[in-house]
Amino acid sequence: MQPTTVHWHGLRIANAMDGVPDLTQPPILPGETFTYAFTVPDAGTYWYHPHTQSSQQIGHGLYGPFIIEEANPPRVDRDVLWVMDDWRLTEEAAISPTFSHPHDLSHAGRLGNVATLNGRDSGEFPVRAGERVRLRLINAANARIFGLEFEGHRPLLIARDGQPIEAHNPVDPIVLGPGQRADLIVDMEGDPGETYPVIDSYYQRQTYKYLDLVYSTERPLRNSPPDATPALAPNPLPEPDLESARRHSVTIDGGAMGSLRSARYRGEDLTIRELAQQGKMWALNGVVAHSMAMEPLLNLELGRSHVLLFRNETAWPHPMHLHGHAFRILTRNGRREPYRPWADTVMLEPHEIAEVALVADNPGDWLLHCHVLEHHEAGMACVVRVA
Ligand code: C2O
Ligand code: CU
Repeated sequence: MQPTTVHWHGLRIANAMDGVPDLTQPPILPGETFTYAFTVPDAGTYWYHPHTQSSQQIGHGLYGPFIIEEANPPRVDRDVLWVMDDWRLTEEAAISPTFSHPHDLSHAGRLGNVATLNGRDSGEFPVRAGERVRLRLINAANARIFGLEFEGHRPLLIARDGQPIEAHNPVDPIVLGPGQRADLIVDMEGDPGETYPVIDSYYQRQTYKYLDLVYSTERPLRNSPPDATPALAPNPLPEPDLESARRHSVTIDGGAMGSLRSARYRGEDLTIRELAQQGKMWALNGVVAHSMAMEPLLNLELGRSHVLLFRNETAWPHPMHLHGHAFRILTRNGRREPYRPWADTVMLEPHEIAEVALVADNPGDWLLHCHVLEHHEAGMACVVRVA
């Protein structure tokens, strides 16, 4: 029996409904109830999950997709969800009880040994030649980053983190860190009866086949893809004004092979050794999170535009997630980010720097944290106050 809450990941809803224990509501104790009621501002692909002991609770599969339909959805033959996860299973195929292991906390998080699609062995995805499919990808894994390549197909990326993006065929694998989503349009241009692998190539030298697109032997549904290029109407997001934006930075330190020597924890300066004894490994601007309710690390003036500069000074990738807002990714390592996508989570590769911009239009204390759940548990979080 554990307390829990529900966080509506990526939805720009009122702070009191955001589901962060001790910050936006008391935890819901076993046997208690809590009613969430909110208006959804944006269409798109989102998800929900608990925000208490999330490594364990999400790691046991406590989460679900949350789809908000467009007024005019693009015309497709099928609209399909791919909820991607990975699990650390024992030899008896039980969920391994090894949560909060110091190695996972300080390295890449709790990577699993079995990847699944919608909770099952990802093996095969049946398709028919000629059909146009909308795939809604959600990475619900604690720590695994997926980088998908569709052999023999040209997926069209139409949304990231629920927010429409200028439709394009990505040249690189489609990378999804934990918590991230992507909407793709895939025209099944392969031949009836054939099989085409979808490869996950994110981790170097650990490329594996995630699944096979398995074509039925039926005759093609059509001979060439529909000509209309599917496009999504934008959501009502306020456009940040970069000229007048206030600038803030968030520097990420710590972890194995990092250079962090000491950091502030509960108001005291502790050495990395002392922190590790408490299961803490990571700091944002030199501060290690001790709970969800903390003094804000950043104060954003309500109604103004802000630029956040993330610096990853660690040897590990981090998907950084801000609650209650969407931001535009402007640059990476000083280069303009193609398409400047809207997102609620920005992936930072080791030693990468990224700038994002937003209008702070949703008042309250919001969590900003790494969505590798073990990194969050080990201190990689802070509060952003919008007031
Ligand atoms: Cu999906 Cu605070 O996260
Ligand atoms: Cu992280």
